[in-house]
Amino acid sequence: MSHQAIYRKFRPKIFDDVLGQEHVTKTLKNQILSDNIAHAYLFSGIRGTGKTSTAKIFARAVNCLNNHDGNPCNECQICKSNLEETNMDVIEMDAASNNAVEDIRELRDKVKFLPVRSKYKVYIIDEVHMLSKGAFNALLKTLEEPPQHLLFILATTESHKIPATILSRCQRFDLKRIKSPVIVENMEKICDEIKVEYEEKALKLIASNSEGAMRDALSILDRCVSFNQEKIDYETVINLLGTVNYQTVMEVADSIIEKNIEKTCVLVDDILNSGKELIFFLDELIIYFRNLMIIKTTNNAQNLINISDEAIDEIRAMSDKLSIEKIVYYIEELSSTQVDCKRALNPKILLETRLIKMMQHFTVDMESLLKRIDLLENSIKNGISTAVITHDSSKSKHKAVKQQTTTVHWQDNNEKSVDNAKSYSPKISFDNVDDEGIYNAIIANWQEILKKVRSENAGLQAILRECKIVEVNNKKALFEFDPKFTFHINAANQPKNKLKFKEVLSTFLNAECEVDFLIKKDNSNVVQKQTIEDIYEDLKNTFGEDKVELKED
Ligand SMILES: Nc1ncnc2c1ncn2[C@@H]1O[C@H](COP(=O)(O)OP(=O)(O)OP(=O)(O)O)[C@@H](O)[C@H]1O
Ligand SMILES: [Mg+2]
Ligand SMILES: [Zn+2]
Repeated sequence: MSHQAIYRKFRPKIFDDVLGQEHVTKTLKNQILSDNIAHAYLFSGIRGTGKTSTAKIFARAVNCLNNHDGNPCNECQICKSNLEETNMDVIEMDAASNNAVEDIRELRDKVKFLPVRSKYKVYIIDEVHMLSKGAFNALLKTLEEPPQHLLFILATTESHKIPATILSRCQRFDLKRIKSPVIVENMEKICDEIKVEYEEKALKLIASNSEGAMRDALSILDRCVSFNQEKIDYETVINLLGTVNYQTVMEVADSIIEKNIEKTCVLVDDILNSGKELIFFLDELIIYFRNLMIIKTTNNAQNLINISDEAIDEIRAMSDKLSIEKIVYYIEELSSTQVDCKRALNPKILLETRLIKMMQHFTVDMESLLKRIDLLENSIKNGISTAVITHDSSKSKHKAVKQQTTTVHWQDNNEKSVDNAKSYSPKISFDNVDDEGIYNAIIANWQEILKKVRSENAGLQAILRECKIVEVNNKKALFEFDPKFTFHINAANQPKNKLKFKEVLSTFLNAECEVDFLIKKDNSNVVQKQTIEDIYEDLKNTFGEDKVELKED
């Protein structure tokens, strides 16, 4: 017995079977019911969402002798001849095929003849973007003065390739990506019909891999059925797709978030060595962070992501620990890594490098941290009271310098303040404040200062969040931005913003303090000047003293 692909076997036969495109099908049905048909239609949208199916249904519906609520009956003579492709009045052309140009030329001469036995003579031109310039011109001539009995239905995935002159003469309908729950439901129905058992989560995984294209989902389903006739289970889908087990993805994401470089590298190595596609793996990782983002920002996540309830709970717990900025950062970095990996000669090395970079992004640069501790210690000696230095990473070994009043919070950018920060208020004496004192006070109270700025001007606070204090010179505080924040630096340097910040800062410090902003110098060539010892220090700081060893040769 020959095997017919599931997606062919289950091609929608009436408008009501075209799932997820109600915005299109409802309008078309209404037009048929009210006999208000235009001469040209264009169905556009991503692959496998029902363009060709809708075109065929529409071609039957306009001529059906007995239509039901706008749907073709599929039983009258006309419908039947359409379904059997024997109706001379319906001409289906695939613009991708070689003879399309000939066809269009012929078409110009033929369109004037009345349909043989139907109301409309229908031309379905599929993949219409493939037409040559000449063919488009020929088509345009016909569209300019279409005879009453003529109906054109064009379909394409690439509407931007269609000349504007043609577009303007068509009623256009955009078919959307189909939502995962709709895809899953359709697959369930099909499985029941072909009597194949399935695991719900297997179908969800298929749906999430089909990117909203029903045909893609049904093709994967088909492959699963051929692979394992009895039952479609999660493992089969994973094996077929070369996707990574969700649990593994979660583990990798966790270790990235924990900044555990060693664990991340080992996990990634395992995954790639087991034959998984690097690009697929990155896809999964991006989806995981996207899920974190969705759960963090919306209440009703169920519709948006395709995962089990237990997984949702786990993700929710994780999302509570992370700021939205951090999540977005991960998504952006992973996405650009994915793009670059597709072009890289050695994508694995690129991936590892980027992951390490990401994990280091939110750690305080140890060298400047030590420098600042020195400064703080000096200022203690000079009379400014400073107390416990905590760092939000629990692994930081720099607890210390116990003194009287103030608590200095070392935090990752934008992260929520830790517990006792709420009860804290600055009690630094500024009577005799010098540049170093101001510098230390700004460092120590940066989150507080940002809060004050926010209460005056939230936009300004969002800008200043991206800068860092560099030094204070003659009572002028110098802040720097990473070069990628050009918008921020321009905004910060606007006189009114500078003035506002100066006011807030001076009030907060109880000392007059000017401000200035600059772009951080690109020190990429500084690296070359580093000595072995410098690199050794860096590595020790990054990976831990016990993990790095300097071998003399
Ligand atoms: N909206 C939908 N509802 C139900 N099934 C659909 C839908 N879209 C696609 N399918 C399934 O996918 C198959 C192919 O759909 P169709 O040929 O209409 O897609 P298309 O948008 O024309 O794709 P392409 O862009 O590749 O030409 C159908 O036979 C059907 O099984
Ligand atoms: Mg098509
Ligand atoms: Zn009919």
